[in-house]
Amino acid sequence: MNYEELIKLAEEASKNAYVPYSKFPVGACILAESGRVYTGCNFENASYGLTICAERNAVGTAIANGERKIKAAAIFSPNMQNCTPCGACRQVLDEFKSDDGLDIITLCDDGIRVHPISELLPEGFVL
Ligand code: THU
Repeated sequence: MNYEELIKLAEEASKNAYVPYSKFPVGACILAESGRVYTGCNFENASYGLTICAERNAVGTAIANGERKIKAAAIFSPNMQNCTPCGACRQVLDEFKSDDGLDIITLCDDGIRVHPISELLPEGFVL
C-alpha cells in the first residue's frame, strides 16, 4: 500500500463524514505495521464539543482490531489542501507511532506531502 493509495482511501472515507454543523468533511486512512489499513471520518454532534475527528475515529478502529503500531496516516478534506491533523489528533497518533516513526500524508495541488509526526508534534507528551 503506497501513500497515494492511502490518500485515495482517506478521500473515500471523507465521503461518509457526518458534518451538518461545520460542513467540513475529513477522512483518514491509517497504515498499521501489520500492513492492514483502517479508515475513519469525522462525525459531529449537536453538542459541538463531542465531535470526533477523522483521525481519532480511524485510530480507534485500528486499536479495536488489535493494532498497536502505526506507520502512516493519510488525511484528506475536499475543503482544504495539506489538511494536517489538529493538535489533539497529533498527540493521539504519536502514542502509536511505529519504531520507525509515523508519516502524516496530506494532499496538495502539486501532489502528496509527507510530514513525520516528530515534525508536526515535537516533544509530544509521553509517560
Ligand atoms: N477535524 C478533523 O476531523 N480532523 C482534524 O484534524 C481537524 C478537524 C474535523 C472536526 C470538525 O468536524 C471539522 O473538522 C471542523 O473542525
